[in-house]
Amino acid sequence: DKGGWSSFMAKEINEQPEAIANTIRGRIVDGHVEIPELTELGAERLQNIDRIIIIACGTASYAGMVGSYAIEQWARVPVEVQLSHEFRYRDPVLSDRTMVISVSQSGETMDTLMAVKYAIEQGVTTVSVCNTQSATIPRESDAAVYTHAGPEVAVASTKAFIAQITALYLIGLHLGRARGVLSAEAEAAAVEQLEALPEKMVEAVATHEQIAELAHWMADTRSVLFLGRHVGYPAALEGALKLKEIAYIHAEGFAAGELKHGPIALIDHGQPVFVLVPSPRTSPLMHSKVVSNIQEIRARGARVIAIVEKGDTAVLPFADEVVRIPLTDALFDPILQVVPLQWFALELSTAKGLDVDQPRNLAKSVTVE
Ligand code: BG6
Repeated sequence: DKGGWSSFMAKEINEQPEAIANTIRGRIVDGHVEIPELTELGAERLQNIDRIIIIACGTASYAGMVGSYAIEQWARVPVEVQLSHEFRYRDPVLSDRTMVISVSQSGETMDTLMAVKYAIEQGVTTVSVCNTQSATIPRESDAAVYTHAGPEVAVASTKAFIAQITALYLIGLHLGRARGVLSAEAEAAAVEQLEALPEKMVEAVATHEQIAELAHWMADTRSVLFLGRHVGYPAALEGALKLKEIAYIHAEGFAAGELKHGPIALIDHGQPVFVLVPSPRTSPLMHSKVVSNIQEIRARGARVIAIVEKGDTAVLPFADEVVRIPLTDALFDPILQVVPLQWFALELSTAKGLDVDQPRNLAKSVTVE
């Protein structure tokens, strides 16, 4: 049941405030993040972890990339992200001090399941971030951290993606505390941000109208680029993937700093570029770098659509369109910034008369390798 929405994807984008709230629910106790499933792994095991590898495919891998920054920051463990189907074949260096965190909405993606099985054979600790109760991957893993975002029907993942990032942030905070490396101030600040997210997400979802109008005059667009820095980089990759998946438009996401090392050659007159601008209050250095990137592409004719924090006026002179999202800490930016990108893909897909929920050649859950 689409609940009155034109598509499941539209419904699921609208359910994102609730999805975040459901992922957090019961996991913040007295100002501390506490995930019982991780506690059950034993204090010593968590303290001994010296490396984390996140494995996932598609959108889930971008959630993993976003999460990797937060886990490193809070738990002080090196984190890398690998695509599930690449993981096994590189003969990864693993030990009993390695933790493999798989991220999968369905919990049935064969590539990810096979990677988890390989990790289990190698004796590493496996944690599953999953949205589907009792799916195969969480059942096989040492610990299952469910996202509780509710069933996701549209092939293109939206609320599950947001819930996956939220779950990974909770894991980062739990590990930081369990390992004794998370300061009380950092924990309090992060918990405050997390608890405020559902309400801010309501505002991010409300960018729909502005994006629908934007998409209307961009219906003939044949290529779109997305730029982001730090956690904004995986969010840019996700914005590009969404557009490919459901609007069949060629799109690429780049790390903003990489622009001058190649992609800037693509910028031609009228080329649309979405730029995810970091918060100027909480990351002034990154913010100024991204504003310079905007100036560089604008000077070469790019049509700039800037996703900025409310009150950020620095980009106004250089952007053709400014989309405003609520204030948050830089680490939390992508959770909100990705929402207008989801709407953009949905609106372009609709404008082209396509089936938003059932894109050609794709399946919700790919159970073959
Ligand atoms: C792909 C889907 O095949 O699988 C993507 O089309 C999804 O939308 C990816 O992100 C991973 O799926 P899951 O269930 O493992 O998160």
